[in-house]
Amino acid sequence: MNQAIGVIDSGVGGLTVAHELMRQLPKERLVYLGDTLRCPYGPRSKEEVKKFTWEMVDFLLKEDIKMLVVACNTATAFTLADLQDNLDIPVIGVIQPGARAAINFTQNSHIGVIGTEGTIRSEAYTSALKSIKPDVHVNALPCPLFVPMVEQGILSGKQAEEVVGESLLPLKRNNHIDTLILGCTHYPLIKETIQMIIGDHVTIISSSEETARDASAILEFHNQLNRSNHTPKHQFYTTGDLDIFKKIAASVFTKLVDNFQSVTIEKAVIQ
Ligand code: DGL
Repeated sequence: MNQAIGVIDSGVGGLTVAHELMRQLPKERLVYLGDTLRCPYGPRSKEEVKKFTWEMVDFLLKEDIKMLVVACNTATAFTLADLQDNLDIPVIGVIQPGARAAINFTQNSHIGVIGTEGTIRSEAYTSALKSIKPDVHVNALPCPLFVPMVEQGILSGKQAEEVVGESLLPLKRNNHIDTLILGCTHYPLIKETIQMIIGDHVTIISSSEETARDASAILEFHNQLNRSNHTPKHQFYTTGDLDIFKKIAASVFTKLVDNFQSVTIEKAVIQ
């Protein structure tokens, strides 16, 4: 079962999930595609996110992947069910695993969720959380400035603190939450700043660990885990600027990762 696991995101955010997959499944080869050219997906319509996501998936299917991880909350919110219905490989998203982890952590059943406008508008987290625990209180807030900032490589410092501080004000004012879900895979890249602003009394949940656990359990169930002893050679594709993608990747991965390539995916033009 030496085929790769395909991982998609609108840009660099899914690298945080890829990193956790590499940690928990060190024998598995990853093929990653970030549609940086058309990032952010957050403000786009459901139809557009679906169309772009399918274009990424069609590109990765040519790599003969055995599983698809939708490492993007916006794409998960709008496209997961469609992908699961139409692909004959296992497809997992990041929302259900994140919701499950938050329910495990919360003591007072007040959970905050931050994400892109699309993810928050879809109410996918609220539904996922309430389907596990119907009486949970959910405080959901879109943070549209975070993704463009992260894609520029601004991950800490004064500017990041100002943007995060302003954006989280509504959550801080109504601060009953004891758990905060980072409902966008870009946000773990600014987790320290988010934690500093929201305070240490709030547990921050990013779905990468739980998502990687799901991937592992599903591959095991299907007897598709890679049993070979070769070190996997991962492949990273971006539709955007290669240098900035590599720079951000270097801050996500603790060990040296190479094989980056800039690609044009069919019909991938800025709109
Ligand atoms: N990282 C993605 C997410 O988890 C998308 C960010 C965006 O493109 O707006 O939602």
